[in-house]
Amino acid sequence: MTRTLPARVFADREDACRTLAGEVAEMIAAINRSGRPAVLGLATGRTPLPFYAELIRRHREDGLSFREVVTFNLDEYLGLAEGHLESYRAFMRRELFDHVDILPGNVHIPDGWLAKSEIPAHCAAYERAIREAGGIDFQLLGIGRTGHIGFNEPGSPRDSRTRVVALDELTRRDAGPSFGGISQVPRQAISMGCGTILEARRIALLAWGEAKAAIVKTALQGQVTDQVSASFLQEHADAAFYLDEAAAGEL
Ligand code: GLP
Repeated sequence: MTRTLPARVFADREDACRTLAGEVAEMIAAINRSGRPAVLGLATGRTPLPFYAELIRRHREDGLSFREVVTFNLDEYLGLAEGHLESYRAFMRRELFDHVDILPGNVHIPDGWLAKSEIPAHCAAYERAIREAGGIDFQLLGIGRTGHIGFNEPGSPRDSRTRVVALDELTRRDAGPSFGGISQVPRQAISMGCGTILEARRIALLAWGEAKAAIVKTALQGQVTDQVSASFLQEHADAAFYLDEAAAGEL
């Protein structure tokens, strides 16, 4: 059943991230009080940067602790050199994990350096680890201009699970500048599936700027279709978009 997916529009991205970080901090505290770790699904890209900056500020200034937090990242590129600065593993350390008190053993990111033959078992183990952690309490998402969440490009089934995916040309073009040219951007990644993501109990999708306005409108108000994987969020019971005014400009 589809319902109206809430769009929360903020003056700017910092304002949106302050609000969301406050909500997530409260959620972590409430879950920890109930006697278990909070399980967060995390995203990469430029979009979540002010959110991570706000979590770090809260850790330093307000005592927000990640000692009882378990994380699962959405995705990782395949075929990068180990330690590559654009790998999502390096990104997460740089932008969040190195600055908070999370236990390294509680961090999960798909492994993009395995031999091809080892990848299917790794993907199955990733799904199993999410289940064994009790499922994802809160999933953070950005959105690609193809409408992807994680790296679920057009055509990704509603019930897809963690697997190898091929990156769309538009996605590779958008990533080009940070890699020093599109030819340097990997062609494949490991990504949680749409089905994996939709099982999270609560989901927040962040989008900023004019460049995202058209795809935000399509995802929020268009048909639910596997051509726009973010449109599946319309069928989720507790998902919301957090937008700045520019990204909400076409709603
Ligand atoms: C990549 C990531 C997505 C992210 C998207 C948008 O494709 N795999 O998780 O949402 O880029 O990137 P940005 O936030 O830089 O616009």
